[in-house]
Amino acid sequence: MSTKKKTYKKTKKENDDDRDGIHVLLIVTGSVAAIKWWHVRRDIIECVQSLVSETTRREGALVRVHAVATDAAKRFIGAGLVEEGHPEQFLHKYYPDGCSMEEIDGIFDKLVANAYGSRSLLGSYYNDTSEWQSWRNRGDAVTHIDLRNKADICVIAPCSANTLAKVANGMCDNLATSIIRAWDFSKPLLIAPAMNTHMWQNPITKKHIDAIKKNHGKQPFGDGVYFLNPIEKTLACGDSGVGAMCEPKTIAKKVKEVLKKYFETGRARKK
Ligand SMILES: Cc1cc2nc3c(=O)[nH]c(=O)nc-3n(C[C@H](O)[C@H](O)[C@H](O)COP(=O)(O)O)c2cc1C
Repeated sequence: MSTKKKTYKKTKKENDDDRDGIHVLLIVTGSVAAIKWWHVRRDIIECVQSLVSETTRREGALVRVHAVATDAAKRFIGAGLVEEGHPEQFLHKYYPDGCSMEEIDGIFDKLVANAYGSRSLLGSYYNDTSEWQSWRNRGDAVTHIDLRNKADICVIAPCSANTLAKVANGMCDNLATSIIRAWDFSKPLLIAPAMNTHMWQNPITKKHIDAIKKNHGKQPFGDGVYFLNPIEKTLACGDSGVGAMCEPKTIAKKVKEVLKKYFETGRARKK
């Protein structure tokens, strides 16, 4: 029996899309603010699209947001789909009581197809299963490396206290943290922490942020790591104080500003 593997060959259009768009990697972690991931994604697409024509060769090239969810984030994503006021309320019809962990991945496809008609145009969705589904043997695609290579920028929004601690200490036990551990720090990384006020005020949080800035902060094109500090709000847990993720639009504006600087300094990836 032949052991030769079949490899998927991209169409010319897919190759063009890969080359010419702006690729944003959105890592969503287990803060309750993960329920806003769809808004973050939508606002980034809206805000950054105007940069595409300035920075890419091909007319019609798009911003693609590739979303990576941790296991904890998936629980909030599932809950967020039926949150009141969510633009994709149609899902309420399918999952009136929220959805299970297993259902979430399929739901993402429904969301994208419903909103835009074509999944491939605007990026994809990954989780810890994706990494091992695509890699079975030597020579297979390594998802965290492929995503690192493809991305022009990485955004961790929301960034949980746990993921912040892991990044600060170089841990990489899931897809999200493996991407960051393997990140090419000549490309920008934006982090939007979100946590309970006491978590945020705990001195260990500042230590983690300082460690990340110290180890990865200064890059040839400027500051490689950007923090978008949390804002004051009554939090989902009922506590009031600083800790809520900053607004999706603030994140999107910062992504655009940072990407503009990145492209202007001529350090954009060579594809
Ligand atoms: C209802 C609920 C809300 C939570 N909200 C937050 C939060 O806002 N920020 C945070 O850092 N952790 C929060 N956590 C705890 C994280 O989900 C937990 O630390 C988890 O391990 C994070 O995993 P991750 O960093 O791999 O996504 C919450 C947990 C629960 C059950």
